Amino acid sequence: MSEYVLEMIDVSKPFPGVKALDHAQLKLRPGRVHALMGENGAGKSTLMKCMFGIYKMDQGQIRIDGQPVTVSDPMDALHKGIAMVHQELQPIPARTVGENIFLGRYPMKKLLGFIPVIDHKKMYEDTAGLLKKVRMHFDPRQKVGELSVSQMQSVEIAKAVSANCRVLILDEPTSSLTANEVDALFRIIEDLKAENVAIVYISHKMDEILRISDDVTIMRDGCYIGTWEAKELTTDKIITQMVGRELTNLYPKRMNVPGEVVFEVKNFTSINPRSFRNVSFELRKGEILGVGGLVGAQRTELMEGLFGIRSHTTGQIFYKGKELRIARPKDAIDQGIAMLTEDRRGSGIMGVLSVADNISISSLSKYLDYGFAINGAKVEKLVQDNVEKMNIKTPSSKTQIKSLSGGNQQKVLVGRWLANDPDVLILDELTRGIDVGAKYEIYCIIEELAREGKSIIMISSEMSELIGMSDRIMVMCDGRVTGFIDGQQATQENIMALATQFE
Ligand SMILES: Nc1ncnc2c1ncn2[C@@H]1O[C@H](COP(=O)(O)OP(=O)(O)OP(=O)(O)O)[C@@H](O)[C@H]1O
Ligand SMILES: [Mg+2]
Repeated sequence: MSEYVLEMIDVSKPFPGVKALDHAQLKLRPGRVHALMGENGAGKSTLMKCMFGIYKMDQGQIRIDGQPVTVSDPMDALHKGIAMVHQELQPIPARTVGENIFLGRYPMKKLLGFIPVIDHKKMYEDTAGLLKKVRMHFDPRQKVGELSVSQMQSVEIAKAVSANCRVLILDEPTSSLTANEVDALFRIIEDLKAENVAIVYISHKMDEILRISDDVTIMRDGCYIGTWEAKELTTDKIITQMVGRELTNLYPKRMNVPGEVVFEVKNFTSINPRSFRNVSFELRKGEILGVGGLVGAQRTELMEGLFGIRSHTTGQIFYKGKELRIARPKDAIDQGIAMLTEDRRGSGIMGVLSVADNISISSLSKYLDYGFAINGAKVEKLVQDNVEKMNIKTPSSKTQIKSLSGGNQQKVLVGRWLANDPDVLILDELTRGIDVGAKYEIYCIIEELAREGKSIIMISSEMSELIGMSDRIMVMCDGRVTGFIDGQQATQENIMALATQFE
């Protein structure tokens, strides 16, 4: 018997214009969490899609228990004991939680003893049991479309766990989870480890990696760099191997100086009694205001309210001393307020359009000659600047954005909003899924914007990012603002204390 449950050896996979995998390898031992790391576009998701039978590899081998196998498609992968939670979620919104979990393998019963029909009762009972097992409290009959991104992610995890697999692939499973959901996921992972499941864990959150993983494999540009035991590694060592050079700073030196109050929110309240209420805060020119809180704290809802995505609100918004009426996003955009939303798939990315179109689409009016002819050269320069600045990995600016890696898609969206040159910028989980090197570049851009006098509101569930980037942090719990912390004084502990101040 092999010491490995599953091995991928010498795997190569090209796409037009890129060698996504170039002699990659990964060897998984049972009962261990194996972190797969690398910058955006390094080939992590592609390698996993080869294992899961989504892509055919051009070269290489998969072995299970030391025996060579072929995995022809995802169904085949599941039969061979491999399950996967994808980086880009693809739930069916109009279906219930139970239907999404049991899609394609519904429990059946025989009507009148011979007509096969779906056994809904059993499906929902099984779903309830499963959700309980993974410690998630949803109604199995709720439509998935009504769930938040983080709840959808939880449903996907429950679905993968239900497959009773020997190898579980989690491709950025916590990208939209907050602290206590992550804790819940880690408990599930511990349970699975005890059942000897091998887990592949992909994440750009360094603190998570060192907390949860036993082994670490690092990739760069589709190539295998090496495998280490996690206890031999430090964050610095991992970053150096990933990036191929040393990275001395994780956050830029802050030189922005907050000035006068430009934006003021008074008593802002949703008509939905379970959402945000009595929110008041000020935002200064050149200030970076972090917004912390747990999932369900209504941070996104609040910002969507301010931005006019949710119009049923009461309270007042003042901008440069003048009261604003924001009934829809266009009103906000016209005033120079921009918002980068948390759900990039639902409301951000235009998959079939090119990288260039996705960057320039909301700022095209700035690139018109005589008011109507698009100045192609100017747009191209904007696009090239962004591609360079954020190191967006794409064969060309004409490439369809959906073929970019997850993190690179996010960078394109960041580029789009920055191109719009707004005065007030609302960023919701901006650096989700972005690798450390590129994160630093994006932080530098934010700091630069603040220095130029732009005001920034930054929702983040990553504590270190909130602390590293904010002049002030507003913390919310259960729809209310529970306090403000000066950036210099912020710690994980004092943020957490406010974030859990339930009434
Ligand atoms: N379907 C596809 N068509 C064309 N190119 C692709 C496709 N899928 C991935 N690629 C390219 O392959 C490379 C590896 O992408 P992959 O998604 O595996 O990266 P990743 O390591 O998962 O990155 P991230 O951390 O951003 O998720 C990238 O250059 C990407 O643009
Ligand atoms: Mg990926």
